[in-house]
Amino acid sequence: METVLSGIRPTGNLHLGNYFGALKNFVQMQNEYNCYFFIADYHSLTTHPTPHNLTGNVREILAEYLAAGLDPEKAVIYIQSDVPEVAELYLFLNMNAYVGELERCTSFKDKIRQQPHNVNAGLLTYPTLMAADILLHRANKVPVGKDQEQHLEMTRTFANRFNRMYNVDYFPEPQAFNFGNELIKIPGLNGTGKMGKSEGEGNAIFLSDEPEAIRKKVMKAVTDAGPTRPHQEKSQPIENLFKLMKAVSNAETLAYFEEQYDSCQIKYGEMKKQLAEDMIAFTAPFRDKIKELLENKEYLSNVARMGKEKAQENARKTIRDVREIIGFRSL
Ligand code: TYM
Repeated sequence: METVLSGIRPTGNLHLGNYFGALKNFVQMQNEYNCYFFIADYHSLTTHPTPHNLTGNVREILAEYLAAGLDPEKAVIYIQSDVPEVAELYLFLNMNAYVGELERCTSFKDKIRQQPHNVNAGLLTYPTLMAADILLHRANKVPVGKDQEQHLEMTRTFANRFNRMYNVDYFPEPQAFNFGNELIKIPGLNGTGKMGKSEGEGNAIFLSDEPEAIRKKVMKAVTDAGPTRPHQEKSQPIENLFKLMKAVSNAETLAYFEEQYDSCQIKYGEMKKQLAEDMIAFTAPFRDKIKELLENKEYLSNVARMGKEKAQENARKTIRDVREIIGFRSL
């Protein structure tokens, strides 16, 4: 059976972009594949969280994963730092990762812009840690949004380089995966880029958001002056609103507003109201479940323990093999 692995950085709560980009088909995936879902807490150190925030965020993401439908009996759900074997693989991969290729990575360039006062080595080697996450479980498929495509390409480069260097066929070539569909990018509410936790206040809708917060954010979403010609091409902010509506609303609602836009009768206020209500309805089952799970600390800690055991068993096997391949053998 093929292995699927997916991860998320605990630097904020789970938002609709994460959900539609990487999690949407969880339930089906865990029935059809050997699944690993983990919380990338080592990765989040690149932005220097406080210990208090780090623990809290990990707990929240775990509750959100479970609320989204992940089943700890079917999939291995674990916390990255519970399986420190990944750090050893990261070290090995870093020896064959070249500074030039790491510097050219788009996410590194973005981060330099976002946090010019904290350009740490962890940011530069982020792709090798991510490759280590994936290769540790020799995953074949990695459900991700479009923003992670380049990281997957680098993971394939590192895997192939390792295989070639040691003349083995050990690591499979992992593919970015969205259940046969193209990788997607869910836009945010500020009119420009993707939905994301580091894209500014109000840009992302979180699964845990209260209805009032959702209404407030959506009503503030950037729009334009409105179409003046029938079938006018949409500006970016409006295109974004329609994309969001396509994700959470039903087909009739979407068709209605498309028609209103095309005939220049659209009232953005009305569209946003509808979008907010549809987002509220979409997130409602998650919201209640997240609250319930967060109150059950013992259950969360049991899930984490179970995941750690299973993930570590597999990780240890990989590290044993890799050490042998590299030449760390007992004398
Ligand atoms: P992160 O935490 O930024 O996002 C987690 C997942 O959500 C997807 N995603 C989106 N998809 C579509 N539209 C959006 N607006 C959007 N925003 C986020 C991301 O593509 C991702 O799949 N580097 C990863 C975490 C990671 C990882 C891994 C993932 C570490 N190791 C190994 C897979 C495998 C990250 O920062 O994702």
